[in-house]
This record gives sequence, C-alpha cells and structure tokens, in this order.
Amino acid sequence: MSNSANKPAILGGAVLFERGLNLATPDLPPVESFFEGLCSIIDTGVLTKGKFLREFERAVAALAGTKEAVGVSSCTSGLLLVHKCLKIEGEVILPSFTFMASALGIVWNNASPVFVDIDPQTWNVDPAKVEESLTERTGAIIATHVFGNPANVDELWRIAQKAGVPLVFDAAHGFGSRHNGVPVGGSGSCEVFSCSPTKLVICGEGGVVTTNNEELACELRCAREYGNVGNYDLVLPGLNARLPEFNALLGLKGLERLEGVVQRRNYLVGRLKQLLGDLPGVQFQKVLDGERSSYKDLTCRIDAVEFGLSRDEVVQALAAEGIDTRNYYDPPCHKQTYWRTQGRIGPSGLVNTEQLSKSALTLPLSSRLLDADIDNLAEALWRLHKHCSSVKRLLAGRSSQQAGV
Ligand SMILES: Cc1ncc(COP(=O)(O)O)c(C=O)c1O
Repeated sequence: MSNSANKPAILGGAVLFERGLNLATPDLPPVESFFEGLCSIIDTGVLTKGKFLREFERAVAALAGTKEAVGVSSCTSGLLLVHKCLKIEGEVILPSFTFMASALGIVWNNASPVFVDIDPQTWNVDPAKVEESLTERTGAIIATHVFGNPANVDELWRIAQKAGVPLVFDAAHGFGSRHNGVPVGGSGSCEVFSCSPTKLVICGEGGVVTTNNEELACELRCAREYGNVGNYDLVLPGLNARLPEFNALLGLKGLERLEGVVQRRNYLVGRLKQLLGDLPGVQFQKVLDGERSSYKDLTCRIDAVEFGLSRDEVVQALAAEGIDTRNYYDPPCHKQTYWRTQGRIGPSGLVNTEQLSKSALTLPLSSRLLDADIDNLAEALWRLHKHCSSVKRLLAGRSSQQAGV
C-alpha cells in the first residue's frame, strides 16, 4: 500500500470509487424480519403507544443496564424534555466540539450554554475545563460521547455530584459504545440516544432516554405526551415527542443486530489504521484502554505539514475519488451563527477545539463496507500523500483561477 505510485484521481489517475463511497449507509435488518410486526401494527391499528414501544424500551434498558428507558421522537426532543423535567436553569456547561443539537435543550429551556474545551487526544470534553467553569449559576453539565468514544464518565460524575448539578450525556452516538467493558447508558442523571438513519440503531427518526431515576422517567413519559398524564389536565409544558410503533419496531430489530454491526465497524477501523500504518500526518481519536467506540463516525485529523495537504485540500482530492467526507465539527458550536450570540466560553478558551475543528476529517464508514473498500480508502490517502506537491499546485492553480488572479 505505502509503495503506491498510482496517481490520485484529481491528477488524472483512475477513480477509486466510480460509484461513489457514501459517508454513511444505514445497516437495516432484512425486510422479512419486519413482516410479522408490520402486520400486527396494521391489523391492530395501534400505531403509537403500543407494544413495540414498550418492547423497545425494555430492550434498551436491558442493554444499558438501567431501570428505565423512555422512547422519544428524536435525541433532540429527548434533550429538550430532559432539561424541562430536571428543571435545569442558569448556565449549562458543555463542549463546543459536538453536534449543534447538543445545546438546543438548554436554550429551549431559557438556560444558557457555557462552551468548554476538549481533551486533545480523546476529543471528549475535558473534565478539568468543566470543573474550572463551575459557578453558582451552573445548572447542569452535558457531555457527548463524541463519535462514539465514551466520555470521561467517572470524573464528570464526581464533578457533577460535588457541584450538586445534573449530568446529562448526549449519547446520540452511544449505541455500541462501552465504558469499562459495559455498554454506555447508565451514567450520570440520564443518557439520551439518537436513532436517526446515521446511527447504529435506527428507528428512521427516534431517540431514547436511559436512566436509573424512576421519577425522571415517569415525568418524561408525561412530557413526551404534551405534559398530559392521561386525564387531560396538563401538568407541564411538554411536546408531542412520541416514538411511533413503526419506528419502535425498526429500532427493536436493529438492536438485535447491534453487536455484529459495532464489531464490524471496529474491525474495519482497525484494518484502515493498520493499512495507514506509518502514513505521516493522519491521526485518529484516542480510545482509552477498556473503552470501546461505536465508531458512529470515523474521524481523523490531518496535520497539513506532515501530510503535505490541508484537511480542506484532502476533502477536494477525496471527492475526485468518489469519496464522501464531512468536516465534523467545523464550525464547532461556538463559531456557529446562532451559538455565537448565546452563552459564553469557559475561562480557558477553546484552543483544542479550534485546532481540531480545522483539521478533523470524517471518512466513510458503514458495517456494509467491504474490506476492499477500506483498502481503497487507505490507498486514496496514501497516493494523495505521495503526490501531495502536485495536488497542492493543482488546487492552488484552481483557486487563483476562481479568484480571477
Ligand atoms: C451529538 C449529537 N447530538 C444530538 C443529535 C441529534 O439527534 P436527533 O437527530 O436524533 O435529534 C445528533 C445527531 O446526529 C448528534 O450527533
């Protein structure tokens, strides 16, 4: 692999993925596995609040090892309702290096975000930065298991308990992740998973909150139902955030396959890392010993000096190979139009977040990929590095043409 002399497609070489390589391909169970459930939903006419929701919730709670799991319409609605039910107010500390929706529950509940920095190796929120940002106004802490790499759960819990505030995990990427060998889901005050099409357990759209707090689960069940406990006497301003039966059925079948899916993803990532071996300038997120990432996303960091091309140049050259990529998370939250005007930045600033967001590159990954796809992906990166000077010249020429220079 490392001896490749083939030219990259952007320089006229053969395109490695003629039919394209998508960033994510949903790995759905076979259609036959749904027939019985679909017939039952249609025959009974129970389209919502039925047995598949209950079964899905039971299966998620069993996986997470929690007393409760509450299905909701999305991770975002779950986060909104968790803030409402936990009565979170004031300032909420969270990373800026996360998806924009991590902070939405905060502002929808009239609280304000405090963005803090990440650990430069694990790319998860740095507990020391959380601790130094605590004030008497702090109402909660939110941590994301970024790209499926478990956050520093124990240290964050220690800090939250000492401060007497809730700790909420944005576990959108958490299906398949393990902390100390155990599936994530049972930490903090609660964890909120996403089941949208790019995740490892897919409901179409959907989410689920796991918790050992039975009172919270009970309130969430009321809150996802407008705030109506069932007697049409509204007790809190909730939402319609129900998870319909079709979606719960999808998720239930997806859960049965989760372990195979996450193992395949881990295998493919291992294969890519091995093939890239000593390729200069490509670094991966550190997954600590005893932890398992779901690899909801396979993100690497491109060091422009060592690799010979910047992240943005790599993106253009990979596109010429048919390879779809994303710049997760660039811009990070605090640089986004809306978040720029909201809340504040923690006392130590966001140096690691800003450096990482400029160099992070998310590559395609799916359990459906073949070994050969990974081999070609590695080949694409190797040959770009080998021909980096010519690629750089070509791209510089294009951009001065565009600028009319
Ligand atoms: C970290 C994170 N949080 C929250 C969400 C929102 O999830 P949903 O689309 O289920 O609302 C996402 C979506 O990808 C995410 O990546």
